[in-house]
Amino acid sequence: QNGHKHYTRVWCDGCYDMVHFGHANSLRQAKALGQHLIVGVHTDEEITKHKGPPVFNEQERYKMVRGIKWVDEVVEGAPYVTTLETLDKYDCDFCVHGDDITMTADGVDSYHLVKKAGRYREVQRTAGVSTTDLVGRMLLLTRNHFRQGQYEYEVAKEHSSTMGQDSSARSPWTGCSQFLPTTRKIVQFSDGKAPEPGERIVYVAGAFDLFHVGHLDFLEKAREKGDYLIVGLHTDPVVNRYKGSNYPIMNLHERVLSVLACKYVSEVVIGAPYSVTEDLMEHFKVDVVVHGDTPVMADEDGEDPFRCPKELKKFLTVSSGNDMTTEKIVERIIRNRLEF
Ligand code: CTP
Ligand code: C5P
Repeated sequence: QNGHKHYTRVWCDGCYDMVHFGHANSLRQAKALGQHLIVGVHTDEEITKHKGPPVFNEQERYKMVRGIKWVDEVVEGAPYVTTLETLDKYDCDFCVHGDDITMTADGVDSYHLVKKAGRYREVQRTAGVSTTDLVGRMLLLTRNHFRQGQYEYEVAKEHSSTMGQDSSARSPWTGCSQFLPTTRKIVQFSDGKAPEPGERIVYVAGAFDLFHVGHLDFLEKAREKGDYLIVGLHTDPVVNRYKGSNYPIMNLHERVLSVLACKYVSEVVIGAPYSVTEDLMEHFKVDVVVHGDTPVMADEDGEDPFRCPKELKKFLTVSSGNDMTTEKIVERIIRNRLEF
């Protein structure tokens, strides 16, 4: 049935709950095996039946997968067991999955049909990141939060003085990341494209911890204000200063990959200063600095971090229309844990 095709169409499917750069990396590898990538995402009902309720609902999960730059199409409500009918329906040559076994509630390999038909390819799972690991970090964060009570800030500060800025693969705050970032991974995630002459350059900065639908909606709006979007990511100690507790949950390197996987992002500044300076704006030839409508904390010296772009009349606020926050995700996890 593939006679007239001059390119390969690849199929992936999964839950894509709490989408992280491990998911993005598997989609990147899948896309590299062909020219067109279609991703099937399961409904809440289907996931609940086979492995328990997801943290994010299907609309959120569909949107997150659509936001990943290697994805060409999303199929909503794909079945848990991948059938040849599904591959044929979307004219896909084969299905790609990470090298871990996925079972249905009845203990059947979800990919047994496509494997038998020789229409299955495997990619390497990204070591050191998983939903389970991220949930673990969040639970650890709240446990410390409750135990330490009023002393929680002192504890966090003590950590920061003993840790290098970003020399460690661990989050200095939750202390449990096993992911080892390399320059190769960053190169693989990057577009490597410089802005074209005349392109309008937009700059945004933030923590972008546990990259979520709110961030995605915000970056879409920010990108609409120009042609080339640069995202500045604050270092772990800077994020900890304004988020407190044991934030960030993901260290700087992990946040870099999450943001780079987003289709609206052109470039990332790894460890951006909290205050947007004139130097930075000149260096990156920034036309406009954009921020969402979430509250902005003053810098250490009490200054507004956006004072410079505001004075230059190069500052805009956009509304993401989405009230998701990293803290809300943590709350959902706790609630989820208490209920199930
Ligand atoms: N995946 C990966 N590396 C990871 C996590 C997931 O390559 N660290 C891949 C899986 O192998 C699968 C795809 O991402 O091909 C989507 O699968 P999904 O069902 O959403 O993921 P899980 O395997 O449940 O991932 P997690 O344990 O992180 O929830
Ligand atoms: O909180 P954080 O620093 O990760 O936010 C990064 C950017 O995303 C900020 O400009 C913030 O206003 C924006 N944002 C948003 N809507 C959300 C969450 C964040 O516009 N729900």
